[in-house]
Amino acid sequence: MDAAAWDERYAASDLVWSAGPNAFVVEEVAGLTPGRAIDLAGGEGRNALWLAEQGWDAELVEFSAVALDKARAIAERRGVTVTTTLADATAAPDLDPADLVLVCYLQLPTAPLARALGHAASLVAPGGTLLVIAHERDNLEHGHGGPPDPAFLPTVDDVLTAIDGHGLTVERAEQVRRPVETDEGPREAIDLLVRAARPAE
Ligand SMILES: C[S@@+](CC[C@H](N)C(=O)[O-])C[C@H]1O[C@@H](n2cnc3c(N)ncnc32)[C@H](O)[C@@H]1O
Repeated sequence: MDAAAWDERYAASDLVWSAGPNAFVVEEVAGLTPGRAIDLAGGEGRNALWLAEQGWDAELVEFSAVALDKARAIAERRGVTVTTTLADATAAPDLDPADLVLVCYLQLPTAPLARALGHAASLVAPGGTLLVIAHERDNLEHGHGGPPDPAFLPTVDDVLTAIDGHGLTVERAEQVRRPVETDEGPREAIDLLVRAARPAE
């Protein structure tokens, strides 16, 4: 989907994603000291808004202007400040390095996803953390929800290959299970979680 298609999707409903942050983001950020954070392809800002509420100086980066408009409106309602930046994650966005760079469920084919993840890795400041969460390839056959096309479903190795060579130390790289409530009862989604850090100077 291009930016116009995402704009249309975001304009069509009140909130496309949940209002609260992703549970893996909450778990992984718990031990970090708040600093500057980038939420790359952050949608309506569920994670960026939560990070701002935890004391992070959060920048929400998106190529959907409608998603950014919605995020700004929600931020105002919640009384938090989030910087919003319209940019393409695959095109080396001109951003300052950050102590936390988050890429959550960015659904792109392998090559553009690798480009976006490479840019994300390069934006991690010394001592900072990169956190990538995505629907994992196995979700297609064994999990619930997510893109129905394997081209949009990376493996853990795809992510590790994309961030390789950027000077980060991988701290965690694995499939993770996420409970999902459906009309047919509880199900599980299979995600991937990669966490990597740049050594402090
Ligand atoms: C599945 S949503 C996830 C949003 C958010 N990260 C979250 O977890 O709630 C994927 C988001 O990626 C954005 N996106 C897709 N391709 C992008 C690109 N090339 N540059 C910036 N944002 C992009 C879409 O606009 C959409 O908001």
